[in-house]
Amino acid sequence: MDDQQRLIEEAKIILEQNWQDGFTIPRAELYPFQWNWDSGFVALGWSHFKVENALRELNSLFSGQWLNGMIPHIVFHSENETTYFPNHDFWKTDQCQSAPDSPKTSGISQPPVHAFILERIYVKHQDNPEILDAIQELFPKILRAHRWWYQHRDPLNEGLVYIYHPWESGRDNSPMWDEALGNIVFDRDQLPTYERKDTAHTEADMRPTKRDYDVYVYLLEVGKKYQYEGPEIFHVSPYVIQDTLINAILIKSNESLIRIGKLLGYSMSDLEKWNRKSKVSFEEKLWNEELGVYTCYNLRTNRQIACREIGAFTALFAGIPSIDRAQKLMTLLHSWQEKGFSLCPSFDPGHGSFDSKRYWRGPIWPQMNWLINQGLLRYGFDDLATAVKQDLIRLVKQMGFYEYFEANLITQKGLDRGYGGSHFSWTASTIIDLMKSEK
Ligand code: DGY
Repeated sequence: MDDQQRLIEEAKIILEQNWQDGFTIPRAELYPFQWNWDSGFVALGWSHFKVENALRELNSLFSGQWLNGMIPHIVFHSENETTYFPNHDFWKTDQCQSAPDSPKTSGISQPPVHAFILERIYVKHQDNPEILDAIQELFPKILRAHRWWYQHRDPLNEGLVYIYHPWESGRDNSPMWDEALGNIVFDRDQLPTYERKDTAHTEADMRPTKRDYDVYVYLLEVGKKYQYEGPEIFHVSPYVIQDTLINAILIKSNESLIRIGKLLGYSMSDLEKWNRKSKVSFEEKLWNEELGVYTCYNLRTNRQIACREIGAFTALFAGIPSIDRAQKLMTLLHSWQEKGFSLCPSFDPGHGSFDSKRYWRGPIWPQMNWLINQGLLRYGFDDLATAVKQDLIRLVKQMGFYEYFEANLITQKGLDRGYGGSHFSWTASTIIDLMKSEK
């Protein structure tokens, strides 16, 4: 067995170990349930060697879909696991009319990756009749989820959806949220008492801070007060953001859903209309010419969040930028590489708040490398796409299947492991998929 095959075999073992009879946990203890966007990437990994698990994975996630269409960011398939905070009893979604009785879920969502993942699975297995059956079953559920984004999270009717919790963005403690979250005033004594569990399973300096968690809990309570839906949240939440990553992924997934819908014989004109509008607004509202990147937009201050960070590059995967803007994004990424960083740091390494170890403040994330590799390929930037892929493969070979990795090349030299959780499911999945792809 050569090195390449050995790595793929190791990755498969991780997925098997994290498999819980119907879904895959990201990592035991640290994340012992099913996570929304993790499950999409994990399904991609399974599709290379046990496609039935890929389909079960997606079906399990959608068993937590709310009546209003939302796919929650966590599905708590077990009510007995106690190693994670906030657990189902803290979210209290059983008080929400729209939430399923069982399984219990959280009350917010995450990047809607499932349509493009489903399309990939279809393209790979189109001769398998079970795949078409599965697609027929999943298609209306995913369509409802996309409709939920537009109906519940786009009150300005711009084609750009908003989030009201950093956990929805997937990039919990990115420095780009510092100002918006730092300005939130609340009385700590009014927060419900809670006990973090994450720092019992991994080092505190790799995780968000205590103040970060207080704000997360505060914003969760805002959602809870309004049953995690309704127009009130848009008006009262101090954190209301149009996020680059969420919107780019939604646009990319819209494209896939339109193709899948047409394949099944449906008219997809509504979604085509939404998608066109989303692309135009993304270009007009989120591009920052001075920085040469897309930025998130803070709807509370009515200003762009002027930071260079990883979400901007996912616009490439969605085919949003003109060639000129794509070139600027590519050049920026390349400049980070030239400054002595592996690709792709999750935040601008030239910024004072960059921290190459702490969660989303700088480290390299496998699923982000996957998205950016695909985006660069879409625009024909093959050399940089290969660098993004090879950097991740090298890091995993050197340090193991961790949740995220040191970005600084010099610091990497003294390390023999990555950051956060080990034996991580989406790291295993993205490695399988990247190593099995030609480019
Ligand atoms: C966590 O618990 O760290 C997650 O990012 C929230 O989903």
